[in-house]
Amino acid sequence: MGAGIAQVVAASQRRVSLHDAQPGATDRALETMRKSLGRLEEKGGPPAEDVLARIEPVGDFLPADLMIEAVVEDADVKEEIFRRADAALPPDAVFASNTSSIPIGSLAAATGRPDKVIGMHFFNPVPVLKLVEVVRAVQTSDETAAAIVALAEDLGKVPAEARDFPGFVSNRILMPFLNEAAYTLMEGVAEPEAIDTIAKLGFAHPMGPLALADLIGLDTCVAIMEVLHEGLGDPKYAPCPLLRQYVTAGRLGRKSGRGFYEYS
Ligand code: 3HC
Repeated sequence: MGAGIAQVVAASQRRVSLHDAQPGATDRALETMRKSLGRLEEKGGPPAEDVLARIEPVGDFLPADLMIEAVVEDADVKEEIFRRADAALPPDAVFASNTSSIPIGSLAAATGRPDKVIGMHFFNPVPVLKLVEVVRAVQTSDETAAAIVALAEDLGKVPAEARDFPGFVSNRILMPFLNEAAYTLMEGVAEPEAIDTIAKLGFAHPMGPLALADLIGLDTCVAIMEVLHEGLGDPKYAPCPLLRQYVTAGRLGRKSGRGFYEYS
């Protein structure tokens, strides 16, 4: 998702520094962006190379007005990044997290600027889907929220505000749906194709829940269900054992080549 976010920010004429701890990740991200921008350029979007020219892969944090973090759904990893960014970025910079479910309040508490920390939750594929869920922690100031709402609009997105409760609005609704689809498969109620066809044609969803879970990443789905389970304390949010089994086996969805379906 980091690649998609960098792409839409750069397409809005802003300069972007792209950082990833994993060697080679920024090169892969640029390749993903090149493909996506090529598709958009064919439909009248800005020249791909102009957008890419505004994105600079960097080895560490550089001064910026805004950081948008989009790392793995692990609270410790995210908090460490917020602590490091707090030391490296100017005191008036805003810190946004693309987290699907980690409490924004705990990220805010890891910094000396809790009023400038907010959730800016994009949706996959980021260049296509319009929504940005803007998540306010109790510490987030009105000024920060207003700035991020205005930014989302300037990126061509539609912001919707939510408060900082487990899963916010989007994943509180979506993840139990995907989890239940995994249960119907595990219990042999139907084959994957039938489950997805029922959702696609029966509810007019653009893709079925199992295909969507593969797109999001099964590891991410399990991580979000765990946050819902722990944060809301209701056993109905426990991750489906089949999801866990696939994750343990390395079947993470599209990104690993196999999840509920196989991808070439
Ligand atoms: N970049 C640029 N353009 C893209 C693109 C990308 N990454 N992906 C798709 N497109 C374009 C295609 O070129 C195509 O354009 P066209 O209509 O002009 O030809 C259009 O989008 C539709 O794509 P496809 O024809 O390939 O296939 P679909 O019609 O099935 O659309 C989809 C693909 C946009 C992924 C659609 O199936 C969809 O919206 N699926 C649901 C996605 C969803 O629910 N996302 C939310 C996940 S939850 C999340 O992200 C939050 C997290 O916290 C878990």
